Amino acid sequence: MSTIIEDVIARKVFNNRGEETVEVDIITTSGFGRVAAPAGKSRGKAEVVYYPQGGVEQAVKKVEELIAPEIVGLGADSQEEIDKTLHDIDGSKDFRAIGGNTAFAVSLACAEAAANSSGLLLFQYLGGHVAHELPYPLGNTISGGQHAQGKSPDLQEFHVLSHGAESFLEAAMANIMVHRKVGETLGKKDKLFGQGKSDEGAWIANVGTSEALEIMARACENVGAEMGLECGMGVDVASSSLWNGKTKTYNYQREKKTRSSGEQLEFILEIIKKYHLAYVEDPFHEEDFAEFAELTKKAKNCLICGDDLFTTNTERLSRGIKLHAANSIIIKVNQVGTLTDAWETVEMAERNGYVPVMSHRSGDTCDWHIAHLAVAFKCPIIKTGVVEGSRIAKINELIRIEEFLGDRAMMASLDVLQGG
Ligand code: PGA
Ligand code: ZN
Repeated sequence: MSTIIEDVIARKVFNNRGEETVEVDIITTSGFGRVAAPAGKSRGKAEVVYYPQGGVEQAVKKVEELIAPEIVGLGADSQEEIDKTLHDIDGSKDFRAIGGNTAFAVSLACAEAAANSSGLLLFQYLGGHVAHELPYPLGNTISGGQHAQGKSPDLQEFHVLSHGAESFLEAAMANIMVHRKVGETLGKKDKLFGQGKSDEGAWIANVGTSEALEIMARACENVGAEMGLECGMGVDVASSSLWNGKTKTYNYQREKKTRSSGEQLEFILEIIKKYHLAYVEDPFHEEDFAEFAELTKKAKNCLICGDDLFTTNTERLSRGIKLHAANSIIIKVNQVGTLTDAWETVEMAERNGYVPVMSHRSGDTCDWHIAHLAVAFKCPIIKTGVVEGSRIAKINELIRIEEFLGDRAMMASLDVLQGG
């Protein structure tokens, strides 16, 4: 079956925040791929530029006028060549000319079209026969920081990670039960709790960081006992948004407290120990590789993950590897633009013992491709929320992949949490 690209179509669509985004269709002689780009709100400084000047309308034009003429006639399975073509057309280091989200949609839609044209699912096409491990879902349950407004906790995200589950379906179910229990408790604690949720479907409530951690811990404990499995916890501190470069302190607005780097380190170590946190993302601001290294050395059985720190970028990751900063990395393909770039980062992470975590963005669509990327790239964790349409689209797709794999399906290994 031929994967030759016959047509490329781009259009403006919307994400879950109602923001404009770009969607691309790749049509081959015998198949089809369609991908819409997501968008972050708490972005890393080293991320590529999402759109050219003029926004999504210009992105659509760039696809039609510049990209389509170059890739029509190529095989959709020539991923590296296509991604190189995107870089060549753009000519900048950060995709500012055509837009990183434009590149993302074209790059991933080509992979999807190639898979579809070959009669394969995306994870099979990209990962081959060895791709049969399901990631554990890491689900945002309480929102704070930049993802919430008003009197919410200072930390951006409080997660459940049901790493004792025996199947993806069971893990997803446990996460949903924790989310539900947390909602019930918040209703009792916060008289004005209106069951409001953030873009990622996590609760927004008038509680502080330690209260949120306590509520999460109780819910995880109860659900774990009910289901007979281990429900772990995690947080995304998103420290760059707390950091004040002038005063060199982390500013916790709700707590009315500032912390120096040393105090931040102590605070993070304290909550890791007290709540047996399995996962901590961006505990320090995006340029503080040294404190990341210090924490990684001191924290036991906990994933210390870099999101804004690495921005899925090989140069930043190799700096982290040299310094032993973090032991895990968030993979957001649209932080770098193309599938090839993201794959190089995943490979570098895996070679160096860093756990790759495939991730959604807070502004997302019902696209499910990252579910396949998590399996194909052997990411032991997928960070994709617990509820809300754009999150459930990925979770349900993983349930389908697990069913499709049948007896061959197994959960990925997360030895690091067991001290292995
Ligand atoms: P985003 O952030 O809003 O940039 O998607 C989510 C995160 O910090 O992980
Ligand atoms: Zn983050």
